[in-house]
Amino acid sequence: MVGEVHARELRHSLNDPDAFWARQAEALHWDQPWNTVLRTESDEDYAWFPGGQLNTCFNALDRHVDAGRGDQAALIYDSPVTGSHRQYSYAELRDEVARFAGALRNEGVEAGDRVIIYMPMVPGAVIAMLACARIGAVHSVVFGGFAPPELAKRVDDAKPALIVTATCGIEPNRTIPYLPLLDEALEIAEHPVPRCIVLQRPECDHPLKPGRDIDWYAACEAAEPADCLPVDATHPLYILYTSGTTGKPKGVVRDHGGHAVAMHYSMGTVYDSHPGDVYWAASDVGWVVGHSYIVYAPLIRGCTSILYEGKPVGTPDAGAFWRVIDQYKVNVLFTAPTALRAIKKEDPRGEHLGNHDIGSLRGLYLAGERSDPDTIAWAQQHLKVPVVDHWWQTETGWAVAANCRGLEPLPIKPGSASVAVPGYDIRVLDDAGEPVPAGHIGNIVLKLPLPPGTLSTLWNNEDGYRDNYLSRFPGYYLTGDAGFIDEDGYLSIMSRIDDIINVAGHRLSTGAMEEVLAAHPDVAEAAVIGAADALKGQLPVGLVVLKSGVDRDEATVCQELVAAVRASIGAVACFRTVGVVKRLPKTRSGKVLRGAMRKLANGEPCPVPATVDDPAILDEIREALADLGYPKTDRSAAA
Ligand code: COA
Ligand code: AMP
Repeated sequence: MVGEVHARELRHSLNDPDAFWARQAEALHWDQPWNTVLRTESDEDYAWFPGGQLNTCFNALDRHVDAGRGDQAALIYDSPVTGSHRQYSYAELRDEVARFAGALRNEGVEAGDRVIIYMPMVPGAVIAMLACARIGAVHSVVFGGFAPPELAKRVDDAKPALIVTATCGIEPNRTIPYLPLLDEALEIAEHPVPRCIVLQRPECDHPLKPGRDIDWYAACEAAEPADCLPVDATHPLYILYTSGTTGKPKGVVRDHGGHAVAMHYSMGTVYDSHPGDVYWAASDVGWVVGHSYIVYAPLIRGCTSILYEGKPVGTPDAGAFWRVIDQYKVNVLFTAPTALRAIKKEDPRGEHLGNHDIGSLRGLYLAGERSDPDTIAWAQQHLKVPVVDHWWQTETGWAVAANCRGLEPLPIKPGSASVAVPGYDIRVLDDAGEPVPAGHIGNIVLKLPLPPGTLSTLWNNEDGYRDNYLSRFPGYYLTGDAGFIDEDGYLSIMSRIDDIINVAGHRLSTGAMEEVLAAHPDVAEAAVIGAADALKGQLPVGLVVLKSGVDRDEATVCQELVAAVRASIGAVACFRTVGVVKRLPKTRSGKVLRGAMRKLANGEPCPVPATVDDPAILDEIREALADLGYPKTDRSAAA
């Protein structure tokens, strides 16, 4: 059983969602009150706060300035990769955002138009997002680690009126000029993008394309500040593309009203964070964690948010996180377990902590992948704060299961993502749709309607929204994760039910990688699996069958395949391992047995599936994986 306070709040949220969420929404500024809190046409067709009007940017910035908090730090940019840092007060950030919103307007961007933001972790990315929100434009941020073809897919789906970019991103080992990548993407894309606003970074001065590109600073200078435009609560705030089972990314759509309410509520309830606190999500604005907890939630809540352009290790060392916590007196840190594993690997005894005072830290929150108990224990021992694993996904936008320390601290069970967050009705069903008993693994689903702040649809793809999430178990949202709920109501996430893998906290589609491999002229068939990795949780491993008659050197083909995935999807895929096999294991109906191959790669017992057409193939796969170094011996951290 969860704690009494938590249980009461959860019950209230599910039994009387109208009253519950109306109360949460009152914390925000509404230009026009809603007609109904939750309008339900059917299980699948519902809307939060219809009739209401507000502006998310107003609630994130102007509201605090108007309330007399203009001088408080809103955003602190800390960039070890450039050796710089800068602080923006709420008033300064509002003014910069208003000015850039005016620049967008000058370029003809109107409410409802899409704007793609392809930027590194610089304040301009946050400013561009909020500026879109300010004028009702719909932003779609594309992670800088994606290659031009992935950017092109998003351009063709979102059909932006304009792209905002910077001249480069900076990785510890290299500077990545963005404009050549943008040029390539726009050449591949069918949708024409007439205008790009380019932030020239001092680290990489790049000539702009006449007629297409506009300099960020010149655009701002020529612009008048734009006021916030009140929009319908159901108006789209952003589209964020995430990996599905195929190469076509899914555009998760988030609205203004429900999202702002959920962001505000989650900061207090899940993270126990309050106005004036310093909150740091060490993620990237290109991911949902960055959208929700670098940009929107901390600002809507009136906190100071840290924007960190660096890594947990190597910028310059494994003490980087502790330096930032000390320097800015961070109260709450949110990161992916893989970041802690990277720190732990370099500094197992936590010696860097001796150089910094992290006494301001009240809690560490982990998500993006399962937190292995070893990592949690290490963090608890060295940081001496509660370490909370919590579970959510791009689609939900905020935590579904967590130890809600803003309600009451619950016992921490390492390996579990804790209990249902108020607003969410989590169930575990078997394949026939029947509830499974406590402790039994099944499909994790959420009873509809989902709470405010969750996806309202997939962009341009209402059918895909229904097919992917709603049709499998009528009345429930399918999360795609499998796991169990124990006798105490604690949820443990065990695996995905689809072919999505999680590499260093990044969600990637093996289907997308397979499409790239299969497009190679020498490849007849390809399969990609996620093999356990001690640092990154999982790493992709490819197995390909060459076309008959191909007699090229296999190692050369494999190198080409690695290069092709990097060029098509991006470095972030971490695709470095591929082997050639004579055939792939399949069921009699021709379905590739990826699960069996994954077990072999991980050194797990793998009984020959009854459906396999020829059991000897598994031995061939085992040998091929052994040639690639699988199973790895050091899997303890990811186990
Ligand atoms: N732009 C361009 N390239 C990027 C990039 C970006 N924004 N982010 C990562 N890459 C590149 C890296 O340079 C690397 O390239 P390489 O193959 O040339 O070395 C590749 O993508 C893989 O990057 P990454 O997975 O980050 O590996 P890493 O070895 O550089 O760092 C960690 C390992 C664990 C330190 C790092 O993965 C990390 O900090 N993870 C935390 C993840 C996170 O915050 N997830 C968000 C969800 S909460
Ligand atoms: P993303 O949409 O990129 O945030 O990825 C979401 C997916 O990451 C989830 O569906 C899970 O598979 C996985 N995930 C996120 N958080 C956790 C967690 N705390 N424990 C286990 N898996 C997680």
